[in-house]
Amino acid sequence: MEDILRRITYLRKEIERHNALYYNENNPEISDSEYDSLVKELKHLEDESPIFALQNSPTKKVSGFASSTFSQVEHQVPMLSLDNTYSKEEISKWYDRIVKKLPNEKIEFVIEPKIDGLSASLIYVDGLLRIGATRGDGQIGEDITENIKTIKDIPIRLGIEAPPTLFEVRGEVYINKTDFENLNKLMLENGEQKFANPRNAASGSLRQKNPYITSLRNLRFFAHSFGKIEGKSFDNQTEFLKFCKKCSFYLQDDLKRTNSLDEIFKFTDFILNKRELLNYEIDGLVIKVDDFLSQKKLGYTNRSPRWAIAFKFPAKQATTKLDKVRVQVGRTGIITPSAILEPVGLAGVIISHATLHNFEEIERLNVNEGDTVLVERAGDVIPKIVKVVRKNSEGFFKAPKKCPSCDSDIVKENEEEVAYRCINPDCPAQFRRHLIHFVSRDAMDIEGFGTSLIDQLLNNGKIHAISDIYHLTYDDFIGLSLFKEKKANNIVKSIMLSKSRPLSKLIFALGIRHVGQKTSEIIAEKFNTIDSIFKASLEDFKTIPEIGEVLAVSLTDFFKNPSVCRVINALKVVGVNMLEPAKEKAGSIFYNKTFVLTGELTNYTRDEASKIIKSLGGKISSSVSKKTDFIFTGENAGSKILKAKELNIKIIKEAEFEKMLV
Ligand code: IVH
Repeated sequence: MEDILRRITYLRKEIERHNALYYNENNPEISDSEYDSLVKELKHLEDESPIFALQNSPTKKVSGFASSTFSQVEHQVPMLSLDNTYSKEEISKWYDRIVKKLPNEKIEFVIEPKIDGLSASLIYVDGLLRIGATRGDGQIGEDITENIKTIKDIPIRLGIEAPPTLFEVRGEVYINKTDFENLNKLMLENGEQKFANPRNAASGSLRQKNPYITSLRNLRFFAHSFGKIEGKSFDNQTEFLKFCKKCSFYLQDDLKRTNSLDEIFKFTDFILNKRELLNYEIDGLVIKVDDFLSQKKLGYTNRSPRWAIAFKFPAKQATTKLDKVRVQVGRTGIITPSAILEPVGLAGVIISHATLHNFEEIERLNVNEGDTVLVERAGDVIPKIVKVVRKNSEGFFKAPKKCPSCDSDIVKENEEEVAYRCINPDCPAQFRRHLIHFVSRDAMDIEGFGTSLIDQLLNNGKIHAISDIYHLTYDDFIGLSLFKEKKANNIVKSIMLSKSRPLSKLIFALGIRHVGQKTSEIIAEKFNTIDSIFKASLEDFKTIPEIGEVLAVSLTDFFKNPSVCRVINALKVVGVNMLEPAKEKAGSIFYNKTFVLTGELTNYTRDEASKIIKSLGGKISSSVSKKTDFIFTGENAGSKILKAKELNIKIIKEAEFEKMLV
């Protein structure tokens, strides 16, 4: 019993502390779901041991308070909170309870996304905005009228004729995702702390002493409920929302009215899938009984209405310990730190890694191994560290002075760059990354050539250069771990198949700085062959509209590097394709045209020229006939030229051929 009381007291204190951090300082230490689970545990203990229940327990009142920075506004109708749950099962129970309590009614529900912002009450007298207030503790809020008036979504005058004499609309002040990111960037640039989430950003921006600052923050507003109204009445939420729209308020696009639990869950799944596509944060759905008479019958507790419930989505934030900072060497030698975390459940999965971006970010976060951190995972994005919650170490983790792979010096190329780099071109870690990239799906796409295979081949000394991949044989694989006959045969086949990838894939696989897939395709389509690329000048690259100065310099530097030339030659020797097949063959001058090759060409072997022609949709024939369109001739051509002249067939030399290629 004593233990229970001790736990209850601890939980109350802890919840009040987090309330202050969240509502007053806009700087929470824990995620919403961690907070909700503290409240849930306290509620459970109080229900089990009612003798310890207190009227002013955080489970029984609306959290938050009105600070003394602003003058106070007493709410005519209390601004309550919502009960919440994360489970379908509890929603189902809530639904059953309502249906049971109102057995003679056909209950319709309205479902609205739950906006992650802060609630505000707006009082219009005879259609004119008079007071704007925060929720505060639900009874007393802060007067933020001047700040509210800076929000463009909020009409100063209701957009209808004959407005109600008194109209208190309530809704959510929020900041959209783009503005949130931009605001946080700005905060950092000004040496201020980032906001942990959009709610805190909205709250911090709205509760400013100087309304001018609020006006710069691009806050927005969605209407979702009301307080006191005189001179107008509504039958249900749907009607109320329609009226708000008429008054020029914004409503969310995704609203649903239904009487079926099944439909409620379908809508939940729909919104959950759409969550990342919305440009504002939502943390769940609010399910409300539509009809106001039914709402009245269901009533309220001190804290929340019985006719509504928040169905919260899995948390995107959690707190955990940063066990270790791992330092890795990338393909271009950039040293990147990442975080190894004590495993924690987040948005439905257990995570144990988070990105740390770069060493500047580590310094900004002032984070080091051993610290307790708040991590966040949005959509499929790799989790990131939002902030340090508890410092268990000294200072922040520093960039190493030596490369963790080859022990060469690490340099910061210039002060503007945030990247630290290992500049040893023979760094084994960089080569390993190169290999991983070269064989990857979007590059040469060698199926089955995974990281563990690469590590084994490197350890056995089977690969020293990229082209070594194409010298590997069945015998090189059969001894490796997890490689039996079938797998060894398959990988040999995959390697062989990859030789015929289009030039664009090869360019991408080479891992040229700033050159992604799209640019690789543009270059390959423009130049068609690797030899033309080697011949291209800085100016040639710059004539391509999609290629700017930085990219053009990067490309020229890359292709004039003798070791690149060696790599390409080695790949040519093993038979890797160096041509780009025509994408829109029908549009090419080669399309469906028959070519006869004769004489000795200087820049190409006959075989190479044939491949180029075929890749562009042309055909090759060995004899001249009426069907021949072009004779492609080199030095010392023989009788074919005479016949071509007889038949009036166009004769082209290498220079003309090359012009046709561009
Ligand atoms: S209806 C009695 N609808 O969630 C409260 N609230 O956790 C009626 N919220 O204080 C509120 N989106 O600030 C309602 N579509 C929505 C909402 C919403 C966000 C906020 C609101 C409320 C809090 C409760």
